[in-house]
Amino acid sequence: MRRVSVPSDRVAVIGAGASTLLVDLAALGYRSIDAVDISAAALAQLRQRLGASAGNVRLVCSDVRVVEFDSSVDVWHDRATFHFLTDAADQRSYARNAAAAVRAGGHLIIATFADNGPEQCSGLDVARYSVDALGAAFASDFDVVDATRFDHVTPTGASQPFVHLVLRRRANA
Ligand SMILES: C[S@@+](CC[C@H](N)C(=O)[O-])C[C@H]1O[C@@H](n2cnc3c(N)ncnc32)[C@H](O)[C@@H]1O
Repeated sequence: MRRVSVPSDRVAVIGAGASTLLVDLAALGYRSIDAVDISAAALAQLRQRLGASAGNVRLVCSDVRVVEFDSSVDVWHDRATFHFLTDAADQRSYARNAAAAVRAGGHLIIATFADNGPEQCSGLDVARYSVDALGAAFASDFDVVDATRFDHVTPTGASQPFVHLVLRRRANA
């Protein structure tokens, strides 16, 4: 996959949870990271996990459907959060927020359960996507530049089919 980000980028990690991605980004030299999660407990766990790097990460306890950024985000990253939005209006709110946040030429990197993936995540119903359907959810402002399907193997050994897209923000007309 082509490289779409450098450490000077402003990165928004949506539904960050206590993901090691944040620790890895900090270790790579990223210094402008927003970690958004609806769960204060998850963000507290993340703060602990980050340790001395916590100063490089702004912890934002918010629902992604209402979170507000200025339009200076270079990369918006979401693994396994968008798929919790099963209501079409919520999906549109998310897509609008992402489009408002990401600068023209910036990227949206998103992974959801695939159309043949599990019907629930953490006990909650999810929306499942084909490559085309996920791209269509963001088509009004983003072009797909890379798409893959992969199987995520959970710590218990279960296989979860995912769709993973990289999209580029178009300039406003
Ligand atoms: C399945 S976990 C994925 C965590 C992380 N992205 C990863 O891949 O390890 C989903 C995360 O999204 C958060 N989340 C769910 N709905 C959300 C919403 N509407 N707004 C913000 N965060 C949300 C949950 O609290 C949880 O931490």
